[in-house]
Amino acid sequence: MKRIVVLISGRGSNMRAIVDARIAGAEIAAVISNRADAAGLAFAQGRGIATRVVDHRPFASRAAFDTALAEEIDAFAPDLVVLAGFMRVLTDDFVLRYQGRLLNVHPSLLPAFSGLDTHRRAIEAGVRVHGATVHLVTPQLDAGPIVAQAVVPVLPGDDPAALAARVLREEHRLYPQVVRWFVEDRVDVDRQGGVRVHGAGRSEQTMCVPQLDAG
Ligand code: GAR
Repeated sequence: MKRIVVLISGRGSNMRAIVDARIAGAEIAAVISNRADAAGLAFAQGRGIATRVVDHRPFASRAAFDTALAEEIDAFAPDLVVLAGFMRVLTDDFVLRYQGRLLNVHPSLLPAFSGLDTHRRAIEAGVRVHGATVHLVTPQLDAGPIVAQAVVPVLPGDDPAALAARVLREEHRLYPQVVRWFVEDRVDVDRQGGVRVHGAGRSEQTMCVPQLDAG
């Protein structure tokens, strides 16, 4: 059984999608938040999953917070640490501690639109496609090896909220799929950061293009 710790900061809908996917061979060992008011914590508790809060505010430095966070994570001995809307920049030491087993979902087609406010920036740039990326986390922000991406159209009249909702639906499809690949030991990363997924079938390609509604 592979043990997974999920880190959230808020709503936790990606965490929920991963829990609801009931991935064979995986146990969600804990959900940890840096905010006590993160809505996702109640969902996890309702499912009988252990939850912890490590509030970043009392810590004097990023390093001190990350050390405390790592202690909480390590108590659950995870095989995989999944960032799911965890809105903290992590120190290099933290990232390197979980190298190769630390995943993130980002709401853009990286390397485009790293950082925040991705949907507004995509609309303003006039791109015709946008999406989500699941990648391994490395010290450079939003720049780790890309495991899979999901593409959505940017439609005339889209505002950031409408585009965010379309992307989020794909995140909920993409992230559990990638977590399952890791649980099944099907992901290899070479020295250049190239990612290979073994045995991916047609229904689980590394780039997911959603069906468009006829309307
Ligand atoms: C998701 O859209 C995720 O891609 C994004 O935050 C949202 C969290 O939603 N993450 C980032 O922007 C990371 N830089 P959720 O809490 O409902 O999963």
